[in-house]
Amino acid sequence: MNAILLSFLIMFMMITLAVIQAQLRNGFYSSSCPSAEAIVRSTVESHFNKDPTIAPGLLRLHFHDCFVQGCDGSILIAGSSAERNAVQNIGLRGFEVIDDAKSQIEATCPGVVSCADILALAARDAVHLSDGPSWLVPTGRRDGRISSSTQSSNMPSPLDSVSVQKQKFSAKGLDDHDLVTLLGAHTIGQTDCRFFSYRLYNFTTTGNADPTINQSFLELLQAQCPKNGDGLRKVALDKDSPAKFDVSYFKNVRDGSGVLESDQRLWEDAGTKSVVQNYAGNIRGILGLRFEFEFPKAMIKLSSIEVKIGSEGEIRKVCSKFN
Ligand code: HEM
Ligand SMILES: *[C@@H]1O[C@H](CO)[C@@H](O)[C@H](O)[C@H]1NC(C)=O
Ligand SMILES: *[C@@H]1O[C@H](CO)[C@@H](O)[C@H](O)[C@H]1NC(C)=O
Repeated sequence: MNAILLSFLIMFMMITLAVIQAQLRNGFYSSSCPSAEAIVRSTVESHFNKDPTIAPGLLRLHFHDCFVQGCDGSILIAGSSAERNAVQNIGLRGFEVIDDAKSQIEATCPGVVSCADILALAARDAVHLSDGPSWLVPTGRRDGRISSSTQSSNMPSPLDSVSVQKQKFSAKGLDDHDLVTLLGAHTIGQTDCRFFSYRLYNFTTTGNADPTINQSFLELLQAQCPKNGDGLRKVALDKDSPAKFDVSYFKNVRDGSGVLESDQRLWEDAGTKSVVQNYAGNIRGILGLRFEFEFPKAMIKLSSIEVKIGSEGEIRKVCSKFN
């Protein structure tokens, strides 16, 4: 082999190596901070033991982080003009859990573990603690240096049609199957009455309820969210098992018991309906997709959106502040 060819080959191998290294990978901290993942787990667990509703809070926090500026901890920054203060982010919870894990990790290996990674790991642990699946979270994210309350307009709204939901997810590299799978996260947690009470009292021009709501569920929701009542009252997103990460969200959508309009609409689009049906276990003769296998795959895609790696961004010392 001549020398020129050989040097090309070496150059090619070096570039390939650089590309491989510039990606997230499982166990990124296994030598630089071997206890990082265990510290996140034990921190989430101790908060969860005091208040299990912190689990849905953390899962939603990670989703909101990833959809704006990528999964870079931008949602964690405090301040009136920061991302977390956008209207789309009102009600986000779990910041104190991330801050707690970060301060414990800093005491062990300062300046090594990003807040973006802590949040991705915490979301995984939150699902597992709620009796859901667990999975390996590829790590190596860096923390972003931008967090702005004006950048959240692409967040999905509970009023979005299926086609708008599909567009917003596909803009982030998530397909229709990922959309339905990830919405299965609404099997845990709660929502304010104000996000859906228009469906109960004044949906049609004649002032009736949304006709797609199951009659018995409508009565339940009307009792929980009285007409002209307090819009900040909370209702479970999954009426049957609000703290358990299972497939009942999909059964609810099938039965007309989705709480948010965006959830219930999944039953009206042929493509999303078939995925819902599949997870709800409603297709005879076909081996159904298993939600507990599909959700982790979709989460790994979600938590890889527009990540910063290598020497981009920074490793924050405190998750709520830029260095
Ligand atoms: C079309 C997409 C989505 C829309 C329109 C949507 C909308 C909402 C709304 C309106 C709430 C109630 C918030 C409140 O009252 O404070 C909520 C809660 C929640 N969302 Fe979503 N969401 C979407 C996708 C997702 C995804 C992809 C995930 C995670 C993978 C997720 C996880 C959660 C969780 C866990 C809660 C409960 C939070 C808690 O109890 O604190 N959502 N969502
Ligand atoms: C019902 O909705 C219509 C159209 O959005 C609105 O004009 C009307 O004021 C609403 N009625 C009540 C009682 O909220
Ligand atoms: C209404 O909900 C109940 C149980 O939640 C279910 O058995 C029934 O099939 C639902 N009705 C419709 C029309 O989906």
